[in-house]
Amino acid sequence: MEQKRYGHFDDQHREYVITDPQTPWPWINYLGNEDFFSLISNTAGGYSFYKDAKFRRLTRYRYNGVPMDNGGRYFYIKEALGESPVWSPGWKPCKTPLDFYECRHGMNYTRITGRKNDVECSVLFFVPLKTWAEVQKLTLNNLSNDVKRLKLFSFQEWCLWNAATDMENFQRNFSTGEVEVESPTPGLPSREGVATVIYHKTEYKERRNHYAYYSVNTAAQGFDTDRESFVGLYNGFDAPECVVAGQPKNSIAHGWSPIASHYIEVELQPGESKDYIFVLGYVENEQEEKYERAEGAVQSSNAPAARSTVQTSLGALDHTIINKRKAHETIARFDTSEKVDKAFAELNRYWDDLLNIYKVESGNAKLDRMVNIWNQYQCMVTFCMSRSASFFESGIGRGMGFRDSNQDLVGFVHQIPERARQRIIDIASTQFPDGGCYHQYQPLTKRGNNDIGGGFNDDPCWLIFGTIAYIKETGDFSILDEQVPFDNQPGTEVTLFEHLRVSLNHVIENLGPHGLPLIGRADWNDCLNLNCFSWDPNESFQTTENKSEGSKAESLMIAGLFVVTAKDYAALCKRIGKDAEAERMQQAADAMAEAVKQYGWDGEWFLRAYDFYGNKIGSAENEEGKIFIESQGWCTMAGIGLEEGLVARSLDSVKKYLDCEHGIVLNNPAFTTYHVEMGEISSYPAGYKENAGIFCHNNPWVIIGETVAGRGDDAWTHYAKILPSYVEEDRQTLHKVEPYVNCQMVAGKDAARPGEGKNSWLTGTAAWMWLTVSQYILGIKPDYDGLLIDPCLPSTAREYTVSRRFRGADYTIHVVNPQGVAKGVKTITLDGQAIEGNVIPFSEGNHQVEVVMG
Ligand code: GLC
Ligand code: GLC
Repeated sequence: MEQKRYGHFDDQHREYVITDPQTPWPWINYLGNEDFFSLISNTAGGYSFYKDAKFRRLTRYRYNGVPMDNGGRYFYIKEALGESPVWSPGWKPCKTPLDFYECRHGMNYTRITGRKNDVECSVLFFVPLKTWAEVQKLTLNNLSNDVKRLKLFSFQEWCLWNAATDMENFQRNFSTGEVEVESPTPGLPSREGVATVIYHKTEYKERRNHYAYYSVNTAAQGFDTDRESFVGLYNGFDAPECVVAGQPKNSIAHGWSPIASHYIEVELQPGESKDYIFVLGYVENEQEEKYERAEGAVQSSNAPAARSTVQTSLGALDHTIINKRKAHETIARFDTSEKVDKAFAELNRYWDDLLNIYKVESGNAKLDRMVNIWNQYQCMVTFCMSRSASFFESGIGRGMGFRDSNQDLVGFVHQIPERARQRIIDIASTQFPDGGCYHQYQPLTKRGNNDIGGGFNDDPCWLIFGTIAYIKETGDFSILDEQVPFDNQPGTEVTLFEHLRVSLNHVIENLGPHGLPLIGRADWNDCLNLNCFSWDPNESFQTTENKSEGSKAESLMIAGLFVVTAKDYAALCKRIGKDAEAERMQQAADAMAEAVKQYGWDGEWFLRAYDFYGNKIGSAENEEGKIFIESQGWCTMAGIGLEEGLVARSLDSVKKYLDCEHGIVLNNPAFTTYHVEMGEISSYPAGYKENAGIFCHNNPWVIIGETVAGRGDDAWTHYAKILPSYVEEDRQTLHKVEPYVNCQMVAGKDAARPGEGKNSWLTGTAAWMWLTVSQYILGIKPDYDGLLIDPCLPSTAREYTVSRRFRGADYTIHVVNPQGVAKGVKTITLDGQAIEGNVIPFSEGNHQVEVVMG
């Protein structure tokens, strides 16, 4: 396959620069990092939502569209004179060939620039900090020697809030849509200083306390709010009727599909440029403050538009006119270029601060840009989104995963520990008293999701994993004393520590015939459903009847995970003076490790599981799926059988049977036939997803296992294979999805096109890649008393420097490796003083650390 390049990194600006709009798949970015979020593709496609991509969807998006990625925030530019074609700065939707195109995806912002006939249009999209709005600063620049007269149309399509019903309940939807408009257009209400605002208020008069708006900071010459009027029933986004005609209709939507479009006439002298600021925002009002005292606004329920100003006696609350105060306030915060530039500078400073917390200088630009920029950025995104909204996740399917969110926070906790703390409490609140838990919860309500329920027996362990990472980063043991309910039921509160205790108990109380953990619906591998047999194509593997009663299905993945987390928990208990509890759990961990050695070792690698009937899975005895990655990863990370050589043999088997040029596949040989007793895994075609795809998320487990075994070259080789910056260099076309972030899955060696990526962005890979490189390869590990230094390096690595802010103190850690050893710290000096051992004790201030390996 011929490999083309579509863009390149700009490390200085922390941007990925896309220079060809026709990327092999939409290459997207995320705006916002707290409450208000937008997804934006390199051609300005995508959508916005408040907190929850399912329940508070602001703008509509069509998944699976033909062509791909249609709908978004679009601008159309038409020259008032002459025959030149309508164009869009992001190329789409018009697809008029541009003289220049560039999309710069940066840290929570995107800038798209297009040029046509000596007019340049550049749009900066971002969500300002602490703001429930996406700001779009559009700059038009006349590069010619002539006066340019332009017609500019904006466009957004509203979603009727619940993104699921928006796509299905048309008998209702087509009658409910309502809008209001404030505009200087003659005959319409307007407000000084708030030039042209289109409000979307569908369902506001009933249970909703929220509306959305789209404004521009100028007196627009017109607008449209009804899709059919603006686009035309037989046209597409590429040629809306109003744009083609160069004339808005000032339409007011009554049901059908409400949209928001401004029409602006622009005159530019030679060399002149003008800015327009658009704000797409969201407002919530208190029940008593929902409506305005009537002065009038044009709104949907009265037609036709020109006669629709509502007249009511002054001062009375008019239950048809929404209270716009908060919208006006936000619009006023961004009504000049100076204000927008200032907010943008604040966003950039925010990212400077976040990214200054951990920084490496290694001399390898491909490593540095992933560690210093993109991997950390992706961790923020996965922390915010879990697996909800991407161009592969519709935002209506899943909320926050219990296991996913615990893993995500480990990639994020060094950045904003307070948010990680809150997340831990939210997650723990969805746990059941017996330690089991909901598999997912909704971010808006924070309630467990009943559709999927619980019964995934690895879930509880992840709470330990997340919480301990938080305490080690912050030294904040007080989180253990927080009162946290079960299943969000008031009155059931116990300490978070108690939640951790019941989590591990849940494993111990659910052991199978070999003393190994019973798997339940599934462990980390959602698709290894050993108790959920189904021949019914209409059933979901994960929610179908769970036949775990009497089942012998045990998981070696949970066994390894348990040993790792139980040991960590025992160490924590010691720290806080709970010696008996520490002892109890250490014994359980030791017993589990013994059970693994006795019943979980297949000869050359760790077994994967026992099935419902007690038969082996992931054994040389099997015809397909002889070896799996998860148990090799977790049992080697746990160091089970390290002295006896099991770790090294397991890792060698991974290299021999699972590794390939693009990474490590999940299992081998791939399943070619359907095994009902294994569930979803064997339903996938060979080489994809959990059936022998390269499921990037679990590659780091093996990499960390390699560092436990002290094999630095092997660790690095596995790491670099799935590191986006290496893929970016020579495989952009094959890889297909964004080359600046990891994807969940790359097609494995048994697939039709090995190396093709899918499901970019929302994957546990982000947090695990971060943990792997920051703590195990570069080897700077937060620990209770300080920073533990334990690198595991490839033989070529001779020197690097990490700057690490830790609990408010700044450490500059310079590591030299004169002999090119993989592991072993010979000496450490802290501010010129030699220290014993390899833990740099925490103290405030700035510190210089010299580490010599050997
Ligand atoms: C997806 C899920 C995650 C699961 C993994 C493997 O990434 O979000 O929870 O562990 O698939 O099945
Ligand atoms: C796993 C599978 C994915 C499925 C999901 C549902 O992540 O990889 O295909 O959609 O589980 O939870």
